[in-house]
Amino acid sequence: MGVDVLLGLQWGDEGKGKIVDFLAPGYNVVCRFQGGPNAGHTLKFGGITHVLHQIPSGIFRDNIQNVIGNGVVFDPVIFKNEVEKLSEYNIDLNKKLLISKRATLILPVHRLLDSAMEASKGKDKIGSTLRGIGPAYQDKIGRNGLRVGDILAQDFKKRFHHLTNQHLDMLAYLKFEADHKESEAKFFESIDFLKKFQLMDTEQFINTAIEEGKRILAEGAQGSLLDIDFGSYPFVTSSSTMAAGACTGLGIAPSKIGEVFGVFKAYCTRVGSGPFPTELQDETGEQLRKEGAEFGATTGRPRRCGWLDLPALKYVVTLNGVTQLFMMKTDVLNVFEKIKVCTHYKLKDGSMANTLTYESLNQDVEPVYRTFDGWGNLEVNEATTFDLLPAQLVKYILFLESELKTPINIVSFGPDRSQTLVRK
Ligand code: GDP
Ligand code: IMO
Ligand code: MG
Repeated sequence: MGVDVLLGLQWGDEGKGKIVDFLAPGYNVVCRFQGGPNAGHTLKFGGITHVLHQIPSGIFRDNIQNVIGNGVVFDPVIFKNEVEKLSEYNIDLNKKLLISKRATLILPVHRLLDSAMEASKGKDKIGSTLRGIGPAYQDKIGRNGLRVGDILAQDFKKRFHHLTNQHLDMLAYLKFEADHKESEAKFFESIDFLKKFQLMDTEQFINTAIEEGKRILAEGAQGSLLDIDFGSYPFVTSSSTMAAGACTGLGIAPSKIGEVFGVFKAYCTRVGSGPFPTELQDETGEQLRKEGAEFGATTGRPRRCGWLDLPALKYVVTLNGVTQLFMMKTDVLNVFEKIKVCTHYKLKDGSMANTLTYESLNQDVEPVYRTFDGWGNLEVNEATTFDLLPAQLVKYILFLESELKTPINIVSFGPDRSQTLVRK
């Protein structure tokens, strides 16, 4: 029995949280392996809507261990808030949540640095969530970072101040003024709070669970097109959001990976700057935003919207070794009479590309579309099996499957747990 990995295949916000929560009863362990509180994963069930940032999306289900792995950058202040928000649900977090001692800490000064660096970029800013993700990963890779396990050391405060002071020099250089004293007090409160949780070598826990035949689901954050290596660099996040990130971010061997679930929206969205070939800056884009309630779960920013981008999907399906696709937010397309899918990019030199390349990512490409008839309102929401889906939607699904050479095994048609259709 391997570790199944669930990934967003676009620019994040594909609906990963919803589907992890839906699948979680089939697993014993759900783990986050990268990213941090830049993630906002929305779960909806029984009249409850809840957004998780660092805590894995298996947390509402019974008898599941949830793991924050070593590859995560962890903000203890946001964690304390998250735990407090969960208090009304009577979840025994001390029992159900394990946190890697190797996860990198986000310090208050990392958030300030994130803001300062974005400000210094002017119009070329990345559109970061300003959660301190980039600066925290910089410290990790630069071998200066502090980790969750370090909070138990006698000299933690000294090391905290040493690193903070280095960064304050950088902030002064960037002429970024901010009062960090108040946030420091909050930080140390949240560090005391964090000490009450199970901090451990989660890689040992996970590998023992694998040996015992337990079922493990790794929950990706962000999406493949935001990957530090293969995304639309530099408009990306600072972690490996691809399947391989689950190995380094949890401490598991590649041979232990089982299924790779690729989650995508039936169209595309992006929040933040960077290339977006199929973006619609017209009424149709506006309508997608309205129908899909496309506003960020972490920052509330309006998401940029556009048609599905097959060249980009093909690229990441291959690089991730996706074995099953899950199509989300299908219902959002119900109102459209015509639905477009980008099949190729026309490059500046007139050549066509049917996948992402370094060149296509670094120039304005012209999307070439294939147009499908819409499937009309309601029918999708009422379908209880794949066979009952409207014919036009079946045509859309079959086309995507043949282009991506991968089955679409789940179709989601609403934010609620119950609005999920599984192919038998
Ligand atoms: P994540 O970051 O990938 O977990 O996705 P987000 O939670 O940031 O954004 C997805 C949004 O779409 C949330 O508001 C979900 O409640 C919502 N959602 C998820 N699946 C569906 C669906 O199939 N249809 C509709 N209409 N909304 C959905
Ligand atoms: P989930 O897990 C959508 C985007 C930001 C910005 C870029 C870099 O909810 O899908 P960062 O804060 O990481 O330095 O920002 O990445 N971004 C996301 N967009 N969903 C997310 O997470 C994102 N996390 C980061 O908007 O463009
Ligand atoms: Mg999100």
